[in-house]
Amino acid sequence: MSKKKLVFSGVQPTGNLHLGNYLGALRNFVSLQKDMDCIYCVVDLHAITTFQNPDELRKNVFETVASFIATGLDPDNSIIFNQSSVSGHAELAWILNCVSRIGWLNRMTQFKDKAGSDKEKASVGLYIYPNLMAADILLYKATHVPVGADQKQHLELSRDIAQKFNNDFKCKDFFPLPEPLIPKNVSRVMSLRDGTKKMSKSEESDYSRINLRDTADDITKKVKKAKSDSEQIPDNIKSLEKKPEALNLINIYSEISKNTLDNVLIEMSGKEYSYLKTKLAELLVSEITPVGKEIEKLLKDRSHLEQILKKGREKANIIAEENLKNIREKVGLI
Ligand code: AMP
Ligand code: TRP
Repeated sequence: MSKKKLVFSGVQPTGNLHLGNYLGALRNFVSLQKDMDCIYCVVDLHAITTFQNPDELRKNVFETVASFIATGLDPDNSIIFNQSSVSGHAELAWILNCVSRIGWLNRMTQFKDKAGSDKEKASVGLYIYPNLMAADILLYKATHVPVGADQKQHLELSRDIAQKFNNDFKCKDFFPLPEPLIPKNVSRVMSLRDGTKKMSKSEESDYSRINLRDTADDITKKVKKAKSDSEQIPDNIKSLEKKPEALNLINIYSEISKNTLDNVLIEMSGKEYSYLKTKLAELLVSEITPVGKEIEKLLKDRSHLEQILKKGREKANIIAEENLKNIREKVGLI
């Protein structure tokens, strides 16, 4: 690891990756690897904070690695591995459990959403999930973390934990305070069925999301069926404030066509949403289906994916062990 800036991010192996993961995270992972050292982790320990069928979990780890490679991550350039294979994540998470405060965790909105109405029944792991995420980042002393907007609060907590550790153990600047890299335009891709909810793997209806492995036919159908608006497309973004589904389609179109919102509105104003949908479906098909086909191809060669994980684990472990040695010393562990 030569350069000073270091990127770390994680994706949970919990099934189908979708357009939200792609625009919010994966596409940025790929562009960052040109200029910075990058570590990309399949966070299986995070996934098991809610019950996962063991066979499904194994399958999903490989599918996530395949998705990383298919979107353009280069395993010779970036470190790609699964979290549980480097035991330092769990060890540092324990230490950080002792630094992090209950009051801080009580404010985490993702726990409230995921735990649902009966919080007493949620796993302890789900509650301390953000401390493990801080451990992932700090284990490598990462400086930059590309994520979607839904992870902003967790990133802020990671910074608080880093700062408290540095204060408590009187080692100013020991952990860098990690900076979030959140995409400006579509930091949150919303569900195609309900524009107030984020596009998510766990949403029941498959029509709510575009999966990376969807066929051209699936994508076209889903975009056609997406909720929009009966009025024509306006010429300003303000008129879309109360129309989250329409705004979401415009945002996705802007992102995928690499065009500013202003230009998109100039192109689209006065037209029906069916026109936008046709164009959007075409662009999505041409960008997403090659990724899906590549994922299918990669999944046929499991030993190649195993090799990638093995190489990544070895590289990650060297950095992790080196940093852990210093962390243990700071804390007073022998
Ligand atoms: P997850 O699948 O929850 O592990 O998320 C992996 C990455 O994708 C994280 O950086 C998330 O912030 C990002 N992400 C997930 N869903 C969305 C979404 N609907 N819009 C934008 N980014 C997302
Ligand atoms: N919590 C993140 C999510 O659900 C995944 C994640 C785990 C992560 N560890 C991380 C993201 C470290 C960035 C850095 O999307």
